[in-house]
Amino acid sequence: MCGITGYIGEKDAYPIIINGLKRLEYRGYDSAGIMIYDGQELNLSKTKGKVADLEQITDNDSKRKAGTIGIGHTRWATHGVPNDVNSHPHTSQSGNLVIVHNGIIENYDTLRKELINRGYTFHSDTDTEVLVNLIEEVKKQENCKLGKAVQIALTEVTGAYAIAVFDKEKPNEIIVARLGSPIAIGVGKNNEEFFIASDASPFIEFTKNVMYLEDEEMAIVKPGRDIRVRQISDDSSVEPNIQKLKLSLDQIEKGGYDHFMIKEIHEQPKAIIDTYRGRMLANQGIIKMAGIDNNLERFLNAERIIVVACGTSWHAGLVGEYLIEEMARIPVEVEYASEFRYRNPIITPKDIVIAISQSGETADTLAAIKLAKSKGAFVFGVCNVVGSSIARETHAGAYTHAGPEIGVASTKAFTTQITVLSLIALKLAKEKGTLSKSEFNTYLQKMQLIPEKVQKLLEIDEKVKEIARIYKDAKNCLYLGRGFNFPVALEGALKLKEISYIHAEGYPAAEMKHGPIALIDEDMPLFVIATNKGHYEKVVSNIQEIKSRSGKIIAIVTEGDVTVKEIADHVIEIPETEEALTPLLTTIPFQLLSYHIAVMLDKNVDQPRNLAKSVTVE
Ligand code: AGP
Repeated sequence: MCGITGYIGEKDAYPIIINGLKRLEYRGYDSAGIMIYDGQELNLSKTKGKVADLEQITDNDSKRKAGTIGIGHTRWATHGVPNDVNSHPHTSQSGNLVIVHNGIIENYDTLRKELINRGYTFHSDTDTEVLVNLIEEVKKQENCKLGKAVQIALTEVTGAYAIAVFDKEKPNEIIVARLGSPIAIGVGKNNEEFFIASDASPFIEFTKNVMYLEDEEMAIVKPGRDIRVRQISDDSSVEPNIQKLKLSLDQIEKGGYDHFMIKEIHEQPKAIIDTYRGRMLANQGIIKMAGIDNNLERFLNAERIIVVACGTSWHAGLVGEYLIEEMARIPVEVEYASEFRYRNPIITPKDIVIAISQSGETADTLAAIKLAKSKGAFVFGVCNVVGSSIARETHAGAYTHAGPEIGVASTKAFTTQITVLSLIALKLAKEKGTLSKSEFNTYLQKMQLIPEKVQKLLEIDEKVKEIARIYKDAKNCLYLGRGFNFPVALEGALKLKEISYIHAEGYPAAEMKHGPIALIDEDMPLFVIATNKGHYEKVVSNIQEIKSRSGKIIAIVTEGDVTVKEIADHVIEIPETEEALTPLLTTIPFQLLSYHIAVMLDKNVDQPRNLAKSVTVE
């Protein structure tokens, strides 16, 4: 939930670390800090606020920037409010050890008390300051090198971490370790330099060689030498697995757009094609998905599919429930991963669990997967980030191939997750014979047309902007949809909440009369999805009910609609497609609407307050 970076080599460390932190700010942006070692001194700069605020402190101070070794941090606060003191890096009591940490040390309070008894004093409220002092204490007690001290100390902590530790007494190496939080090591030419980061984006212009630490592994990086990887539990050595990075620089830049969110909204036609490319062979009437093909018997004999996910990914999971039940006739349950993991759920080896996660690092989803596996279920992952923890923890899976999603508000992740879930539903339906050949082929043909329909929909931007201008000052909004589009209503409301801070709720349209209808008055905008095959008449009745109570109606309808146009205050038309595929279209106007409202309200669209892109804490 924080971003960490580090560099050791012959280049100036400062610009590498600062630029790296900017790329990692999606992970947290409450405070930022950097330590540069100049050969003699540790120069520490940290502040509440963003990396740009940190730069203001360091920019005109060459002393703070000089050196070829350093570590940096951008924080999403867990223990202790965001302020200068709680910002990372943290130093040990002696001032020799410096650490940056992403994660939570759960037993920090016990450790802190023990360390206080041994004479340590603490300046911050963080669990991280406890960890760096624990390492120092072990180093002293055992009279050992930093690597050994880190290994022993980590066997005493519970929780999650990705850390980078530097010791002024041994300034030619950095120690990194991971449990539950990601860490990537970029390997420079001939091992002359190493880059450390929470993901590979901070170093893509420097090297394509990357090693991802596995859980419970630590590594010692020292220029001029191979990375040494060790198992934390028993200090045994592990063969480093260096891979080739496929990420490119333009994928993580704004490319002329004002914000990542709008760039990512516009990337959806391509992202959807990338998701089904090579899998959906419409002309041959085939869907190929290795993760299912290689485990077909398990899927065909599954008594139940349980989807686990959080946030937007959970909404995609709900669309998946409608799709899989409708097409493949397999019972589906959709669970919040955070509830599932703690409620002693009934899971059997005949269940298939589908875990959905853009980042592949969400702590609750990861824990739900581990629980399901321990009960014998087969776990299939739907992730965007290649090589992420969830992708590695699941038995099989399908990547969404959306490309990096940097805006905190998920957009292309959602539509590509729905694309994968549509392919899963269709494939299982074909294998089980629950759709006729012609129905199956029609879906494939229609699916193939979705990207160009999304492209066309993106042209309604000006109209959506106009609607945004009218309703940007609303205090509360309701989003209504039915069937396949009920989850889209939930997602529309979430998008508005998270980036514009306007209160919004999503509801199944027919549920409105069981409570939320009491909220409706002339100040209440209601965004209603009324596509022509989705229980259209029923939704039209709901719209009438709203109209009679003076609510403002913004309806999403199918091209050529006449009835709703006469009742609603505004209509947005989506192109015709199969009802099951409409979520891929109806969600687009809601994304644009949230974006424009947030921009008009002058909110930080890509980095909304209190949020972070990947939630690696409970
Ligand atoms: C979406 O806009 C959110 N920022 C959030 O709900 C997100 O979908 C959730 O945290 C799950 O993340 P994941 O897909 O990376 O697991």
